[in-house]
Amino acid sequence: MSDAAILERSQALPQNIPQMDFDPYDVEVLKNPYPYHEMMREAGSVVWIRKYGCWAVTRYEEVRTVLNDYQTYVSSAGVGYANFRTEEPFRPPSLVLEADPPAHTRARKPLAAAISNKALAQHQEEFTKQAKVYVDRALEMGEIDGSRDLAVAYPLKVFPDAVGLAPDGRETLLDYGNIVFNAIGPHKDNAVFADATKNAAAVTEWIMAHCAREALSPGGFGMSIYEFADRGELTEDEAGMLVRSLLSAGVDTTVSGIGNALYLFSKNPDQWAKLHEDPSLTRHAFEEAIRLESPVQAFFRTASKDTELSGVKINAWDKVMCYYASANRDPRRWENPDKFDITRNAQGHLAFGTGVHRCVGRVVAWVEADALLGELARRVKAIEPTGEPVLRAQNAIRVFDSIPMRLIPA
Ligand code: HEM
Repeated sequence: MSDAAILERSQALPQNIPQMDFDPYDVEVLKNPYPYHEMMREAGSVVWIRKYGCWAVTRYEEVRTVLNDYQTYVSSAGVGYANFRTEEPFRPPSLVLEADPPAHTRARKPLAAAISNKALAQHQEEFTKQAKVYVDRALEMGEIDGSRDLAVAYPLKVFPDAVGLAPDGRETLLDYGNIVFNAIGPHKDNAVFADATKNAAAVTEWIMAHCAREALSPGGFGMSIYEFADRGELTEDEAGMLVRSLLSAGVDTTVSGIGNALYLFSKNPDQWAKLHEDPSLTRHAFEEAIRLESPVQAFFRTASKDTELSGVKINAWDKVMCYYASANRDPRRWENPDKFDITRNAQGHLAFGTGVHRCVGRVVAWVEADALLGELARRVKAIEPTGEPVLRAQNAIRVFDSIPMRLIPA
């Protein structure tokens, strides 16, 4: 929509519809989003974002409703701000994340098979072994950057290993993820997106080469996707796209999830003491961490027809921004929503989404978190902050570039 069309639409909306004047993709908002989430939640069940001419849902009920109704709120018009239905796509849509059933079902099947419990079990031992290696190293250092030394280093080792990627140049995966997730925001006049895509050509070349069949080692998640091409269930190109999807979706998210958990523990020593006392709470604690500091903050859906949501009229092909992170702090759903409490039952959180697109890789995230945070829980008595954490301004993911901390061994 042009600026003039957005203005006209905004002026024509009924008086009782709350209109927001802030820019959700402003760097300051990205770095401190929670007051804005609260403002939107309290303004209404569905609000209008004037800057972009789109809707936003921030309350738990509405976010769930939209995500669970894939026929009315489609993903195939893009899960970012860009509307692939009304404009020429500025990037290729994801084969799985940006498809609706039945195309989505067909693409999701090889991914689910590649990272099934059975497939994961073959890598579990290595995930556990590497967790010990990284925790040994961190304890030797004593003062660490929780982001660089654990939250980035560990997933960047174990996950691409399990996919079957060669060991060289893996930092490129972080650049790749940063491009993919920043592309969720507006791609025009957005400095964060422009910065992330500076080296897009080189990054794309690297990722294409490293995800090709001949570059992958046998026995990994990646090769198992190519086996679907061997059986004629995917084309060779589709298999490559799905391997790349796995890597774009599976690195930054776990880097963020583990980092956000470490950040929360560094700020809440009583919660670490509880986990150290009872490491069997590790999974519970991770779920609570990603409820409170949700790695994926918001994705979009697009209305496929004129419809109504909580009494608000939505037009066909309107964009709807769905805030997982805000739903996860909605006081209508959670008691003391801003409190980090690892004994809370965080089940029902939307950090992994819900409905047909619910994160297919969540088991991998759990295995990584269990291994690394579990090892830390057993061997670290306390986590002390040694400096201010540095948050990255990112259009979709909440991630720290630096979390300075000291680990006190048990
Ligand atoms: C803490 C870590 C993770 C978080 C918070 C997370 C979050 C999400 C969310 C919110 C969605 C739903 C998107 C939507 O509603 O449109 C999703 C989908 C997806 N995730 Fe994850 N994810 C994580 C880890 C992973 C990992 C490790 C992998 C790969 C092994 C992965 C692969 C995928 C894929 C392929 C999809 C698309 C599924 C579909 O469209 O059917 N994710 N994830």
